[in-house]
Amino acid sequence: MTPATDVLSSEKKQTTAGNYFVANYPPFSFWKRENRHKVEEVLDRKSNLDTPLGLYLHLPFCRKRCHFCYFRVYTGREAKRDRVAAYIEAVLNELKAYARKPLLAGRLPQYIYFGGGTPSFLSPEQLEQLIHGMKSVLPWDRAEEVTFECEPGTLDERKLDVLRELGVTRLSLGVENFSDHVLKSNGRAHLSKEIYRSYDYARSIGFHQINIDLIAGMLNETEENWHSCVAKTAALAPDCVTVYQMEIPFNTAIYQQMHERGDIVAPVADWPTKRAWVAEAFEKLEDSGYTVADAYSAVRNPDEYRFRYREYLWTGADMISLGVSSFGHFRGVHYQNEKDFGPYIDRVAGGELPIHRALEMTEEEKLVREVILQLKFGSLDRAYFQEKFGADIYDRFSRQLGRLRDDGHLAIDGDRVTLRRAGLLAIDELLHDFFLPQHQSARYT
Ligand SMILES: C[S@@+](CC[C@H](N)C(=O)[O-])C[C@H]1O[C@@H](n2cnc3c(N)ncnc32)[C@H](O)[C@@H]1O
Ligand code: SF4
Repeated sequence: MTPATDVLSSEKKQTTAGNYFVANYPPFSFWKRENRHKVEEVLDRKSNLDTPLGLYLHLPFCRKRCHFCYFRVYTGREAKRDRVAAYIEAVLNELKAYARKPLLAGRLPQYIYFGGGTPSFLSPEQLEQLIHGMKSVLPWDRAEEVTFECEPGTLDERKLDVLRELGVTRLSLGVENFSDHVLKSNGRAHLSKEIYRSYDYARSIGFHQINIDLIAGMLNETEENWHSCVAKTAALAPDCVTVYQMEIPFNTAIYQQMHERGDIVAPVADWPTKRAWVAEAFEKLEDSGYTVADAYSAVRNPDEYRFRYREYLWTGADMISLGVSSFGHFRGVHYQNEKDFGPYIDRVAGGELPIHRALEMTEEEKLVREVILQLKFGSLDRAYFQEKFGADIYDRFSRQLGRLRDDGHLAIDGDRVTLRRAGLLAIDELLHDFFLPQHQSARYT
């Protein structure tokens, strides 16, 4: 048996280009243009009131493009006022088109997520227009959670007041690091003083939950600086801390530079080091009273500060997705919107749903998807899968679970599978073994 320190430590695995984070299943390369009609078909079915519904809106504008970023974002002239105005209009029309669909009749969203890009790039007036407009189509007064992603330097007191009044319950700040040198050299638009200014004011006006995102392994990160970032995070005492491990997908500026130089290895820490840094962050936060809630986050009080978006998404809820390149899901049908601004705006203006590609999952794919996503919580409940899918995961995944247990990454106790910390920190690497054979070596793009 190998010691369960780090799955990859023996290989000293370097960071090379490509996607690491498993955001969904089956891999996106299996979602096809020719399946777009599946979304329309499922939306024409009778309303399924029992399935929770969410709403995701992608706001693709940012002040600057960070060197490591792989999201669909527009900056500079492509993020001018008239483009934002056209975008808001399109999003509202897109939502109206969904609200007319039989599958959604009588259903209101339980969870809302404004992601990006940088949702907080919008002005207070634009935010009011957008959110009042959305609520007039689909009220969400009874939503359990409204998450809003922010880049700290875009926030001021007025904008935070407006967000609070508009019903945001979970404010998520892209802090990433506390060192101005590291922030600048990674192309971030904000500096550390903006972190403190926005955090302190947001705290003072009483958002229910404040989350801070950090990235382990930014360009120029050091042991000493990471140590200080973790200490500064704990001192701020946010309700939730999310720590991502730096990945370098092909559409990042960092990869572009590697490609020009002919480099294979990215100029950031290797995977064992990044995992050790996340482990350090989690341990320090646990010492300060936090609980590790999943592979990426630690929360101050797990009963009070839940992350409903993640919980719903990983247990098969429906989700309307709005905006360019966003991802949605209805009753086993995955879809992604048009990836570029022009086609997105044009298709909505033409009265169409702007869907770019889709996939209708088989029953087996649905089971694998939930097993994979729920492993990211750090545990699986055998009875849940028995009841929902009529499948015994101990039989169906005996090889994969047995291998992880033999490697010291998980324990099986009665009906519960629990990942040990080293397994949890490497989960995105380990999950591929659970994929169906045809998906094993697919690229996540
Ligand atoms: C859409 S951004 C959050 C809001 C805002 N755009 C910002 O960056 O402040 C979502 C998060 O993804 C994470 N992220 C972005 N690129 C990453 C990468 N290459 N590797 C790991 N995490 C990344 C960052 O922690 C970032 O806060
Ligand atoms: S601010 Fe956020 S979304 Fe925008 S480029 Fe940077 S990481 Fe990407």
